[in-house]
Amino acid sequence: MFNRRVFTKTMLSSLLAACVLPATFSAAQAQEPVVIKFSHVVANNTPKGLAADFFAKRAGELTKGAVKVEVYANSILYKDKEEMEALQVGAVQMLAPSLAKFGPLGVKEFEVFDLPYLFDSYDDLHKITMGKVGQGLMAKLEPRGIKGLAFWDNGFKSFSANTPIKTPADLKGKKMRIQSSKVLEDQMRTLGAIPQTMAFSEVYQALQTGVVDGTENPISNFYTQKMFEVQKHLSLTDHGYLGYAVIVNKKFWDELKPEVRTQLEQAMKDTTDYANSIAKQKNDEDLKSAIASGKTEVFKPSAAERLVFKKAMLPTHKNMESRIGAETIKAVYDATGFDPSKL
Ligand code: LMR
Repeated sequence: MFNRRVFTKTMLSSLLAACVLPATFSAAQAQEPVVIKFSHVVANNTPKGLAADFFAKRAGELTKGAVKVEVYANSILYKDKEEMEALQVGAVQMLAPSLAKFGPLGVKEFEVFDLPYLFDSYDDLHKITMGKVGQGLMAKLEPRGIKGLAFWDNGFKSFSANTPIKTPADLKGKKMRIQSSKVLEDQMRTLGAIPQTMAFSEVYQALQTGVVDGTENPISNFYTQKMFEVQKHLSLTDHGYLGYAVIVNKKFWDELKPEVRTQLEQAMKDTTDYANSIAKQKNDEDLKSAIASGKTEVFKPSAAERLVFKKAMLPTHKNMESRIGAETIKAVYDATGFDPSKL
């Protein structure tokens, strides 16, 4: 027989639950933050590491918690080549690889930044990274499913080894670790050295065990990876630039809510200002710390000695013209006023 009491108590409550539960559930779901996994290969206390942490904080603030940026430093998630693959398949959403690491993606024009002695100062560099040429380079990433958000500075590279490097001849026959760039490969061969491409996370051990004799890096990487412990000599040649492009998986970026994307763009803008304001200072501090360690002897070439390095490495500009593209090289020369014939 139909029981009115049972209907009202049990049926009504399940009817209510059916209506109320999905509403509660979707409210909880709406509060779940969007997670951005940001993977990188350097230490936290470097220009890139500090900037990544700054972005994580700023993105959280500006989106009021709607976006959570998780930073994975020091190659703990992925090494150089793997992180590019991880971004493309969506295993991570954001990276800031060095500009020397875009060649293997098929965007060879980025290797223009690796040309030796192309930039004399951060001001010269910013004419590219903050100008039309930089924008054009970022646009070339999109067909690869990657969106470029910003350029972040690091600094100018020094050579290191266990023997002094005072002239280009001191690099002859040395096995030198390089990033995965054909321009850097040519630069080392032009000097008579033997280039060895290797992931950043493997460099310390390779130097320690003698797999390679030396390397090149801005001081912030040299110091924070403790390379000074295993390299007796550092030569402040400032012979090339190393910096970053911050990139995201394009599909992920395009699918964000427009207002969230705008907030993240603002967070990135703030972070870029911060990153570029600390890069030089961080490298200067780390140079002092490397010297204070007493483990590495630092040689600072005079202007004339630096010019000898410059002239010895200049052939790489011509050698790499067909790889990078003559127009890209010319666009950089035009923007910075670099004139190889005036050396
Ligand atoms: C290197 O591999 O030497 C650098 O690209 C590491 C980095 O990200 O600064």
